[in-house]
Amino acid sequence: MSGGPDESSVRVALRIRPQLAKEKIEGCHICTYVMPGEPQLVLGKDKAFTYDHVFDMDTQQESIYTHCTESLIEGCFEGYNATIFAYGQTGSGKTYTMGTGFDVNIEEDELGIIPRAINHLFRGVEERRQAATEQGKPVPEFKINAQFLELYNEEVLDLFDSTRDIEARKQRSNVKIHEDANGGIYTVGVTTRTVTSAAEMIQCLKLGALSRTTASTQMNAQSSRSHAIFTIHLCQVRVCSLDNDDNVTDNRLANSSEINEFETLTAKFHFVDLAGSERLKRTGATGDRAKEGISINCGLLALGNVISALGDRSKRSSHVPYRDSKLTRLLQDSLGGNSQTVMIACVSPSDRDFMETLNTLKYANRARNIKNKVMVNQDKASQQISTLRTEIARLQMELMEYKTGKRMVGEDGMEGINDLVHENSMLQTENNNLRVRVKAMQETIDAQRARLTQILTDQANQVLAKAGEGSEEIGNMIQNYIKEIEELRAKLLESEAVNESLRKSLSRASTRPSLYGGPGGSFSPALLAPEKEASDVIEMAKKSLEKLKKKERKKKKRVLSKRKCRTTTTSEATRRQRRAATTKRARTRMERRRTLTWWETRRLTILTLTNWRRKKTSRPTWPTSPARSPSSRS
Ligand SMILES: Nc1ncnc2c1ncn2[C@@H]1O[C@H](COP(=O)(O)OP(=O)(O)OP(=O)(O)O)[C@@H](O)[C@H]1O
Ligand SMILES: [Mg+2]
Repeated sequence: MSGGPDESSVRVALRIRPQLAKEKIEGCHICTYVMPGEPQLVLGKDKAFTYDHVFDMDTQQESIYTHCTESLIEGCFEGYNATIFAYGQTGSGKTYTMGTGFDVNIEEDELGIIPRAINHLFRGVEERRQAATEQGKPVPEFKINAQFLELYNEEVLDLFDSTRDIEARKQRSNVKIHEDANGGIYTVGVTTRTVTSAAEMIQCLKLGALSRTTASTQMNAQSSRSHAIFTIHLCQVRVCSLDNDDNVTDNRLANSSEINEFETLTAKFHFVDLAGSERLKRTGATGDRAKEGISINCGLLALGNVISALGDRSKRSSHVPYRDSKLTRLLQDSLGGNSQTVMIACVSPSDRDFMETLNTLKYANRARNIKNKVMVNQDKASQQISTLRTEIARLQMELMEYKTGKRMVGEDGMEGINDLVHENSMLQTENNNLRVRVKAMQETIDAQRARLTQILTDQANQVLAKAGEGSEEIGNMIQNYIKEIEELRAKLLESEAVNESLRKSLSRASTRPSLYGGPGGSFSPALLAPEKEASDVIEMAKKSLEKLKKKERKKKKRVLSKRKCRTTTTSEATRRQRRAATTKRARTRMERRRTLTWWETRRLTILTLTNWRRKKTSRPTWPTSPARSPSSRS
């Protein structure tokens, strides 16, 4: 909140007023076209302009308020200044839009921006007070006051001054414009009304508006002959909201102390209803009216020069002529200063105002380039508290980093981040990458194994089918066996790889004399253990293999001797019986295998393979080892 200024562009909205009865009677045509769904206006045939908002003839006052002013009032509650000003040729609807006209029979939905803003402001005050009461927090205090000035013939006049007479506007006013240390503009000698309700403020506005200089011209029956600036000052004392800092440490500090810290926020909102630019030929002004018209145009020209200087990127660094007129001096904050600013450019849709409308559109286009520097208006004590709180949080974070070893002071006294932190983060990244790779590879292996199993099963089934012995049951059984064999093979390969790496690490360790007391030195039992274990396993595997080979040989002999005795023809029934028995045996074996250890499973598989080999001697071929290539399996 107490940070530096944020850049915010001046937002520009365009409002086209409906055709007046007079214009319709005189047969004027509409020369404006708003692109549907786009904030774009086409003037005549081909002059297109884009703004932040474009409001066509039928737009209601409420919609203008919602889009252009609502957020600015909310910003005031957070300490941001705001300005909204209406610009355009005479009779284009500026006073109607701002709501300073005050017709006697004005309807609720015809209320302009200022009365709506006043209602919104006081509603906001009430809501905030109520919310604080409900949450059991101290109720925020608000002080609202208003000023109403008019700039008539380059003189600043106080519209709240009830003592001034009509002739006073011809004398020199004693209102002075000053600049504070931060570049903010303020006035001296102006009546400031402190108000406590919306109704009171609207009453003030009405009185001020009625004493504003207006006169009838050929272009507007109630033409404003001065620029009017209505200013609301809002001062708020509230409990600091810690949510904005989103800082855990801060919250902890506040909770532990349980002391409410207050901040004072101020904001000023300028509502500016400019007098319209006019061509004396068209307004038919003479005498005082002509003098007013010239003065109005001078003020608007100075405003245009300021907008050009601020909006033109090439001229940005050059001098901005704020002091050329009192209007630009009063609006110095609003254009290029600390304020969120919206300009409402008002235009007539009639073709006879084509040139004036085009000028307004160009003027508005330049204003879009202005960048303001907005910042929260917070009192010094609150700012300091906020800065200190941020500093405490930063220091606590730093302390935590020192404690955890993330930060350290080097030998040269320079502080820096521990190398281990960098290394650790790099390793973590690498680890994550490797994990992803391993997962991908594992999936590939599974897929390949499934493919291999399928191929081998198909081959085996083909062989059996050729021999006329294939059946679905046997096929499934074969598939299960092959699957199992493949899994065991994978495990074996894995164990061999582990074994190999253990062997390598052991041999490396043995060549490191410094660590293990030189070659031939004594190894620690922990390091020898894996090697011993591995060689034990290999020994056991060899023995088991030998045993199985012996058994197989014996069985072969037995089978051969039995076959000699057996009759050559076997009935179909016997064969079926035998097949059923084989399937049953296989199932039992599968059941058992689920509970067997790795070594028992391996032994069983080898036995199964041996049985197949035995059968192979009397039947057509079947692959003895799934790993062999098909060509070598005959
Ligand atoms: N959106 C609108 N809907 C209906 N009537 C409008 C609208 N805008 C302007 N008017 C009417 O047009 C006339 C001129 O409007 P207004 O006095 O607001 O113009 P202005 O721009 O303030 O002119 P000036 O610069 O001379 O003061 C008024 O009668 C007003 O009621
Ligand atoms: Mg007006």
